[in-house]
Amino acid sequence: MLGKLARQHDPNVLVGFDTADDAGVYKISADLALVQTVDFFTPVVDDPYTFGQIAATNALSDVYAMGGRPLSALAMVCFPEKGDIEILEQILAGGLSKMIEAKCTVVGGHSVRDPEIKFGYAVTGTIHPDRVLTNSSAQVGDALILTKALGTGVISTAIKRAEAKQAWIDGATKAMTTLNGAAMEVAVNFHVHSATDITGFGLIGHVREMALGSGVGIRIHSASVPLLEGALDCVRAGFIPGGLTANRDFAECMVDYRDSVPEEVKTILFDPQTAGGLLLSVAAEDADQLLTKLNAGGVRAARIGEVLLQTKPLIQVY
Ligand code: CO
Ligand code: CO
Repeated sequence: MLGKLARQHDPNVLVGFDTADDAGVYKISADLALVQTVDFFTPVVDDPYTFGQIAATNALSDVYAMGGRPLSALAMVCFPEKGDIEILEQILAGGLSKMIEAKCTVVGGHSVRDPEIKFGYAVTGTIHPDRVLTNSSAQVGDALILTKALGTGVISTAIKRAEAKQAWIDGATKAMTTLNGAAMEVAVNFHVHSATDITGFGLIGHVREMALGSGVGIRIHSASVPLLEGALDCVRAGFIPGGLTANRDFAECMVDYRDSVPEEVKTILFDPQTAGGLLLSVAAEDADQLLTKLNAGGVRAARIGEVLLQTKPLIQVY
């Protein structure tokens, strides 16, 4: 649909619509560019404070995914006219706690009366124009590192059906409220060629964008992909979000599976993530040291694959 719209030609746009990247990047001087993103959604957990934290973590993530530093944010709230105002206070307080942790200042916002609660932020960050990490610059031979475990979509679905075990909720909540800033701060010291964060399109959807944009093939070692506790239980129990099915219908035609990949593992690779981890394409010789540094800093990172010469289909899952 976006392709049908008129184009604005502005040479200061360093990253725009074309590559389905995480955020827009706009150059304002030779050594400064703005990173801009917006994201808001309906509650994925029951506790309003935690929901606010997740919404902030998720909105900030697209700035980190470009290699940027968040600077300021505008809150966006949809809230029922007769809703309990204490719930809204809790959502805002949770969001603010993460913005403070990220050293990102909330400078305003906008609210709309809406029967369904929605919350999120428009976030602005900064970056040096030469250090933008796009999702379309992976290089053949790179190693792929993922910085969070998968499974928040299926676990959120279990939560909505009141079937999630407390340990699953705790693990997913911890993942969804962990800022990607710490991981990116480590990553920028290595030869990271390309980066994105794993969100609504699931691991395969975002791998697809990286492969297409970079003109490469990608192999994923499914047994190395970290999974949240309960993620596979949720798949087996049928807690499949609508977005997962849509992701699979859209992107599975680009995947070639080894016979040994179990059905439930195939499924989880398409799970839409909220505030998911970073996918980093890093020079292979840097991969071990980057992993060691990430894990030493408390990031649950794993080496999950590698970048190949363009293959057909584009993605191989071993
Ligand atoms: Co993103
Ligand atoms: Co986004």
